Amino acid sequence: MKITIDGPAGSGKSTVARMLSEKLGFLYLETGLGYRVCAYLWMKNFPNDEPSWEKLKPLLEKIKIEPLVGRTDVWVEHEKVNDLLTTEEVGRVASQVATLKELREYLNSLFRRLLEGKDAVVEGRDAGTVIFPEAELKIFVTADPKERARRRVEQLRAMGKDISYEEVLKAILDRDERDKNRAVAPLRPPEGAIIIDNTSKTSQQIVEEILSLLKERERS
Ligand code: C5P
Repeated sequence: MKITIDGPAGSGKSTVARMLSEKLGFLYLETGLGYRVCAYLWMKNFPNDEPSWEKLKPLLEKIKIEPLVGRTDVWVEHEKVNDLLTTEEVGRVASQVATLKELREYLNSLFRRLLEGKDAVVEGRDAGTVIFPEAELKIFVTADPKERARRRVEQLRAMGKDISYEEVLKAILDRDERDKNRAVAPLRPPEGAIIIDNTSKTSQQIVEEILSLLKERERS
């Protein structure tokens, strides 16, 4: 069984997806990490260039993505790089490499291969529209951009990074713009998705909501 959870940056979808994966014992695939690790490699190898598929392609064989229960591990050669992928800068470059059609095709077929025949919670921007449109349950999480910025600032400060609210809000709005308006796989709710507004709910409440939806579906 596949459950997809899509939504914009900072909507809280990652926390919901991680908790759901743990509750159900399903694998958790955070697809954004695929784009983030490519951005990281790009920044390391071509810091001054606009991303291009031709130059990115040879770097991809260094990457390993490992969906596990409650987390997704990402490796570059033999180094686990998850902690290096959380910065705003990597997020910004990720949304640029994410506009490369060939990269999207490459990652999508990798994601499908990794989860073939497995129970998984798949989280991202196009998990329910493009990667697993046949998923049994598709969720789209939204939240007010101001609330998303507030939460992101809290998260970054907890990691010891001092960043202003205005800066984070601008980064979130810019990223939304790019993700919604790109030609390939723009961010939008999948057909048949349940839309959940996370502005004034806790992740716990949303997970409960999704679990009861699953129970309801099992009964019918
Ligand atoms: O989810 P996260 O913020 O880590 O994703 C970083 C960027 O990667 C997003 O802003 C988006 O541009 C891109 N992305 C995507 N499709 C996905 C997941 C992420 O285009 N399925």
